[in-house]
Amino acid sequence: MKVIVIIPAAGLGTRMTSAPGALGKKPLVSKQFAGLQGISVLARTLAKFAENREISQIYVALRKGDIASFRERLEKEIPEILEKSPVFLEGGEHRQQSVANALAAVSAGTGDVILVHDAVRPFVTEEMIHDVIDAASKYGAAIAGVPAVDTIKQVERTSVGALIKSTIPREKVVMAQTPQGFRYEVLRKAFDEAEADGFLGTDEASLVERSGHPVAVVMGSARNIKITTPADLELAEFYLQHS
Ligand code: C5P
Repeated sequence: MKVIVIIPAAGLGTRMTSAPGALGKKPLVSKQFAGLQGISVLARTLAKFAENREISQIYVALRKGDIASFRERLEKEIPEILEKSPVFLEGGEHRQQSVANALAAVSAGTGDVILVHDAVRPFVTEEMIHDVIDAASKYGAAIAGVPAVDTIKQVERTSVGALIKSTIPREKVVMAQTPQGFRYEVLRKAFDEAEADGFLGTDEASLVERSGHPVAVVMGSARNIKITTPADLELAEFYLQHS
């Protein structure tokens, strides 16, 4: 069984703005390229998979204009990652298209496991990667997730702001993280169906759910944050200092 990881890293990072409420303004820097103690978030994320012996190959989807410059940056930051011969390819307009482009490029067969992991989650652990691979291989599809600690409200967006429609029992909810792992044939079918139906999801599991395949959840971690805003970068610096 081969395990291949796809890292979508072609986002523009429109939420990585300096001021609250500055949504839509040009980001200071796409979050995957932000520096954390002198090393980019993306290099830190890639290192977790490059040093993992269960992973056979790494595919990274980037914006076309970032491919050459990121490779150069990687040579300076963590050159050991290049020893694993990662494949850099062009991403798409949406995360799903970026993953689809990588999925079209991988050489995998029935029973192989494809992991998808956000470029902006550098605190993924070896244990989490192992647990997702294990469950994906066993059940066909599995993701890392954490229980919700806040009370979850369903809302309606109105011109005066959000209005609560109902409260979703917390025990019925998990917060989806990545890695998300799938047997190749399960993910391939889900992507083909989504494309045929014009469905656009915000994670890979949502495509697999709608294709009718059950998706298991294994324990993620509160530290496995998705670096999305400048405040997340501050938290990431704190974790690095205290790890
Ligand atoms: O911000 P968002 O939740 O879409 O980002 C999740 C991940 O998907 C990030 O790692 C981002 O770089 C990636 N992405 C991508 N191609 C896009 C949009 C997002 O690879 N077109």
